[in-house]
Amino acid sequence: GDQPEVRKGLAGVVADVTAISKVDPETNSLLYRGYPVQDLAATQPFEAVAWLLWHGDLPTADELAGLRAVEREHRALTDDVRAAIDLLPTSAHPMDELRTAVSVIGAREVAGLSALEAAADPDETVARSARLFGALPAVVAYGQRRRRGLELVEPRDDLDFSANFLWMTFGTEPAPVVVDAFNRSMILYAEHSFNASTFTARVVTSTLSDVHSAVVAAIGALKGPLHGGANEAVMDTFAEIGSADAVPGWLDDALASKRKIMGFGHRVYKRGDSRVPTMKAALDTLVEHYGRADLAALYDALEAEFVERKGIYPNLDYPSGPAYHLMDFDTPTFTPLFVAARVTGWTAHVAEQQAANALIRPLSRYVGPERREVPTAAES
Ligand code: CMC
Repeated sequence: GDQPEVRKGLAGVVADVTAISKVDPETNSLLYRGYPVQDLAATQPFEAVAWLLWHGDLPTADELAGLRAVEREHRALTDDVRAAIDLLPTSAHPMDELRTAVSVIGAREVAGLSALEAAADPDETVARSARLFGALPAVVAYGQRRRRGLELVEPRDDLDFSANFLWMTFGTEPAPVVVDAFNRSMILYAEHSFNASTFTARVVTSTLSDVHSAVVAAIGALKGPLHGGANEAVMDTFAEIGSADAVPGWLDDALASKRKIMGFGHRVYKRGDSRVPTMKAALDTLVEHYGRADLAALYDALEAEFVERKGIYPNLDYPSGPAYHLMDFDTPTFTPLFVAARVTGWTAHVAEQQAANALIRPLSRYVGPERREVPTAAES
């Protein structure tokens, strides 16, 4: 009768307004503060897009230089973060390493403040976020090197965000084509309205908690294979399939056992993800650079076969997984790369939530037992 309607998964629920990005599945477009994401990816350094998300407009030359100075200042792995990572087994998942590192950085950032003071205002949140944005690549890079038994590589001030990220991870000067593909991936991953991890960050913020707490929680949400974890799952799928000619048989079995094919499908886009063409073009340049036509063949075969059979299209994780693989990132490091990018969007949302906050606290419809008596000792 008069039971409230439940919207499972909050599907179709409009939870708040936002001025940060516009996802339009009808026109298959994604705008960051009004700019088409593919145009930003083709022309901007990631640092400029971070500024755009936080401040609403692209930076002037001075503003960009200012952000870059902050980012460079926080590039080196600090002793406390290094010590915390080193406490973890090398078999720890890199997302758990990163979540731990952000927690350490956050504790240091607000040391001495009460919880209410730590919440801060949107301007202070953006300032903290720029420092965190600068600090994350070292954590990701050190994690991969540690697992490979390699020494830490110190940052290089003469390189921009993306080139330095690759430098700290691999210890070699990256080719321009690789820097460009990486920079594009960062921009494409930076922001996507009320996805699960961003919404998580907003829920945490709505209680007047601080930005690092929100980011720690968002990392937890992003780790799941239905969200950010899909990019690493794509590579696991490719490894399992082996080669293009094995695709039809593999897909027969996968669909028969009702498996979800990672890197396909999207809650919002039903006719294709607006970010895919740009990332696929970047992947093509990497395939050429590394001479890996075999990987491209497997990619194309799985896409063609799955789209034909199910009419479900690839999402951003489908081209980005193989792109990161070609760059020589370990598969479990893919989702931390997503974090290094999405931290900009998350924190822009944290500041936006702070600026017009309302506690996020939905209702539930109770379906458990009706009221009953606790049994007495004699009865139980
Ligand atoms: N493989 C097989 N079947 C699928 C897939 C898939 N990847 N995606 C959707 N379907 C089917 C699903 O089984 C269901 O079929 P039926 O109606 O017969 O039960 C139908 O399509 C609708 O799917 P849904 O799961 O109810 O839709 P949703 O909006 O809840 O799911 C999704 C969206 C992303 C969770 C889902 O497509 C999925 O699990 N994809 C694989 C994981 C993935 O690639 N995630 C990355 C998402 S985008 C980037 C990011 O956020 O990180």
